[in-house]
Amino acid sequence: MDAWMLTDAETDALVEAAAAARERAVATYSQFRVGAALLASDGTVVSGCNIEAANYSLTTCAERVALLKALSDGLRDFRAIAVVTDAPNLTPPCGSCRQLLWEYCGDIGVVLACMSHPGRREFSLTALLPEPFGRQFLV
Ligand code: THU
Repeated sequence: MDAWMLTDAETDALVEAAAAARERAVATYSQFRVGAALLASDGTVVSGCNIEAANYSLTTCAERVALLKALSDGLRDFRAIAVVTDAPNLTPPCGSCRQLLWEYCGDIGVVLACMSHPGRREFSLTALLPEPFGRQFLV
């Protein structure tokens, strides 16, 4: 089993936390509601929802809200993140979120789920962000 893989029970709990966060989405402009939940290695789950702004560019994705909350709470070691929407296609993290997740979480698991469809997909972060730029290039 790959290090980033979760048990079914862990995946269910993470998806549930992301779905609950999605209910709190502040998607005023797009109406595209996203929830994310990040699982720390100590078992703590930190969730986030997307928060939009009228100038659009200050909109923050659910994944980044969850990550920044977790870092601010002092968590530093992570295993996986779940991302939940209600779109017909499972929604993967955007490029900026992939980069920031790589920076602070390394090769975690990424679970994609949808409110109204049973199918899920699971990836490692490096499958979604191959050859990532990171601190080791800053020599
Ligand atoms: N969004 C996320 O929160 N996460 C994603 O993975 C993709 C996009 C948000 C940003 C914006 O509030 C809305 O979805 C539409 O792009």
